[in-house]
Amino acid sequence: TILAHGNLRLPGSTNTVYITGVAIDGNNHEVKERHIQLVKKRGKVKALDEELYKQDSMDLKVEFETHFGIAHTRWATHGVPSAVNSHPQRSDKGNEFVVIHNGIITNYKDLRKFLESKGYEFESETDTETIAKLIKYVFDNRETEDITFSTLVERVIQQLEGAFALVFKSIHYPGEAVATRRGSPLLIGVRSKYKLSTEQIPILYRTCTLENVKNICKTRMKRLDSSACLHAVGDKAVEFFFASDASAIIEHTNRVIFLEDDDIAAVADGKLSIHRVKRSASDDPSRAIQTLQMELQQIMKGNFSAFMQKEIFEQPESVFNTMRGRVNFETNTVLLGGLKDHLKEIRRCRRLIVIGCGTSYHAAVATRQVLEELTELPVMVELASDFLDRNTPVFRDDVCFFISQSGETADTLLALRYCKDRGALTVGVTNTVGSSISRETDCGVHINAGPEIGVASTKAYTSQFISLVMFGLMMSEDRISLQNRRQEIIRGLRSLPELIKEVLSLEEKIHDLALELYTQRSLLVMGRGYNYATCLEGALKIKEITYMHSEGILAGELKHGPLALIDKQMPVIMVIMKDPCFAKCQNALQQVTARQGRPIILCSKDDTESSKFAYKTIELPHTVDCLQGILSVIPLQLLSFHLAVLRGYDVDFPRNLAKSVTVE
Ligand code: F6R
Repeated sequence: TILAHGNLRLPGSTNTVYITGVAIDGNNHEVKERHIQLVKKRGKVKALDEELYKQDSMDLKVEFETHFGIAHTRWATHGVPSAVNSHPQRSDKGNEFVVIHNGIITNYKDLRKFLESKGYEFESETDTETIAKLIKYVFDNRETEDITFSTLVERVIQQLEGAFALVFKSIHYPGEAVATRRGSPLLIGVRSKYKLSTEQIPILYRTCTLENVKNICKTRMKRLDSSACLHAVGDKAVEFFFASDASAIIEHTNRVIFLEDDDIAAVADGKLSIHRVKRSASDDPSRAIQTLQMELQQIMKGNFSAFMQKEIFEQPESVFNTMRGRVNFETNTVLLGGLKDHLKEIRRCRRLIVIGCGTSYHAAVATRQVLEELTELPVMVELASDFLDRNTPVFRDDVCFFISQSGETADTLLALRYCKDRGALTVGVTNTVGSSISRETDCGVHINAGPEIGVASTKAYTSQFISLVMFGLMMSEDRISLQNRRQEIIRGLRSLPELIKEVLSLEEKIHDLALELYTQRSLLVMGRGYNYATCLEGALKIKEITYMHSEGILAGELKHGPLALIDKQMPVIMVIMKDPCFAKCQNALQQVTARQGRPIILCSKDDTESSKFAYKTIELPHTVDCLQGILSVIPLQLLSFHLAVLRGYDVDFPRNLAKSVTVE
């Protein structure tokens, strides 16, 4: 059994991660002198790999053949990136218990104080080390000799506050591993050439029957009732993979089980069992094995030099896939299957609140105006963290949208729970089937953009944008006064894939622009109306992968401060499209040129006016005003990509950032 866990974007990937570690059973578990081999390294997965094979002692080689271990790549939340802070974290120098962890333990300081008072010495600055020490404490103070590994884990998590996905190993339970989660994602991949004993794993409840209690508490896993375990029929092998993200294991299997909060999953003797402490009425009494549609090649780079570039170029198809089977271009209708049963309720609501972080938030900003127009409802757009900080009032007749590519962003997830607690209807707009947000919302839209690997979000943005526009169109189907507008937008949607291809053909020109700009320290992006979100999103792309300072400026605010930044040297990109803000954008343009600014203008192909004042232009095809932002963002995605490459940075894995931000 191989257990992989953590922010492993791709198994064995050579891409940047901060710190990595692996723990495997030492020798085989018949040997009396049990131990766990722990190897940790700061740097990329490749560095760990080299470290492992550098130590070419026979011992280690034999140990690797056991193929039973836990591994982790870490994005630092507590403590600097270093080998000692990397996971697995251990209970003691003898590695009696080791654990890997995604998430944050918020009460770790109290736990650490308690454990220190009991004589435990800490070696790292991580919150995770407290968990390793705590399980040893529980083990050392056990009341019966034959306590099971999963019972220990169950007791440990009762003491933990915060969010976690954990996998444990111990020298006291060789050949076993126990995993659990609360608030952080965790799934189990299942691979077997042979028929499996079941496709639905019944949950063992500690409070269920005497028999279960006996099984769970008093015996080792191998003596568990086999009907409660997943294994291959007969004496055949089955492999289990624990991971926080499907992309880490898709190379090995597309059959997965999604764990729920507080599930405790144990693998022992090739068998997987899951138990929970209590049963509540709404609990599903089993966990099903699901088949993921993701293909390995879908998450590989193909001919592109980076996933981000591949994903930018996928946009003609990804936006088409977002609309596929939903927009009927003949009848001018839109049907989002995941929302249809809730449409009446949504139409009756008092307001829409659209919540997200980063790029997903920008998709909300980009579509706010068209949503207000088509739904005739007040629309609030909110950054999840700020929304929570303000304890924003939410009512039962609000409808709250949660936009998230990963479906796992902690702030967005917390905002979702906050709105749910207040009785609002919750709608997920995610790119990840089975993600926490898609599971916890009342209904939702899957944006169908395909897996996005590059940390900088690109195709997810355009698909989120389209999903929200489609929602507006569905809401306005009965509004007579809006029919012409709806038809115009639907026609616009139809031509988008072709127009995106046209924008992508400008890559060389954008590369030339990047050659001119890549040594600059700063880059302003200015616009207004439908294209303000483009400026915010363009600036975010630039700062996150090129590490240049970049700011998205609302042109209407120019005179209220940002104008002071403008001079001959400061590079300014202006987004000026033929839409209702065109005249106002011309004013801003005059103000910039009057201060010797040399604007690079993203404008419509037929705009002869703006080009007169431009230092350079990037001419874009024209579409309906409310969809123009899909076309205008692409040159900025490409520009940020080329700037980052020219500056010599790892485009797909920018420093300090992670793809799924599963911590607050
Ligand atoms: C920027 C980026 C982030 C994410 C943000 C939310 O390129 O990727 O700003 O958009 O962390 O992530 P999701 O959409 O997964 O909730």
